[in-house]
Amino acid sequence: MGPPGAGKGTQAERLVDDFDLPYYATGDILRAAVNNGTELGKEVKEYMDRGELVPDDVICQVIMERLDSNEASDGFLLDGFPRTVPQVEALDDALDKRGRALTAALLVDVPDEEVIRRLSGRRICVKNQHVYHVEFDPPKEEGVCDQDGSRLIQRDDDKPETVQKRLDVYHEQTEPLIGRYEDRGLLRRFDGRRPPDEVHDHIRATLATLRLEAEL
Ligand code: AP5
Ligand code: MG
Repeated sequence: MGPPGAGKGTQAERLVDDFDLPYYATGDILRAAVNNGTELGKEVKEYMDRGELVPDDVICQVIMERLDSNEASDGFLLDGFPRTVPQVEALDDALDKRGRALTAALLVDVPDEEVIRRLSGRRICVKNQHVYHVEFDPPKEEGVCDQDGSRLIQRDDDKPETVQKRLDVYHEQTEPLIGRYEDRGLLRRFDGRRPPDEVHDHIRATLATLRLEAEL
């Protein structure tokens, strides 16, 4: 969890390598659907362009399909879901029914001013949406993805007015979920203002400890 631009995707890319987990980022899944012109893409494009959340039932279905896939049977990493109270409830219900539970809710937090700075310089690759920043996390070769060689572009919803809307939506609809996960003892907080590798070290250490505890 965390505001737009906190570094959720940046950290997830690193954690996927560490823990060999399937990774489900709802924003990435929706952007791919828009780019491929699928029915889902047509349904969600306008919400995304406005910086609003897509309807709960649409996004819940996207996630539920993945929870039942074979690759997710040993655990998974979610990015950008859940983001509303009904989404939390749908996830709890779905996990309950499958006899499974969340290990942790990871919050990467940064202040709003930092979000604006980051998103104006963000670039993603056209092939796999790998994340870069022109100043803070540049690729080795300008405009080219280090990992798959594809072209780097700016996201449609990184225009300043849309970023402000996404921040407002985060504070109104998603921030209240933090207290819920805190009350359940699942929340782990990370200072997203630190450099990417430092944030990564902290999260990796936390997850490694949680994994050891789970094995005891
Ligand atoms: P989504 O794609 O999830 O966007 P978001 O939450 O706004 O988050 P971002 O992807 O913008 O930021 P991030 O935290 O991943 O940061 P990143 O690592 O890229 O959602 C998009 C849209 O899809 C939503 O608006 C909504 O319409 C829809 N949607 C998705 N999920 C939904 C749901 N559950 N329900 C309803 N609708 C949903 O990093 C940002 C930049 O900062 C990069 O350039 C990076 O290089 C740089 N950076 C990262 N970490 C650091 C650091 N530590 N120091 C300096 N720079 C850094
Ligand atoms: Mg992201």
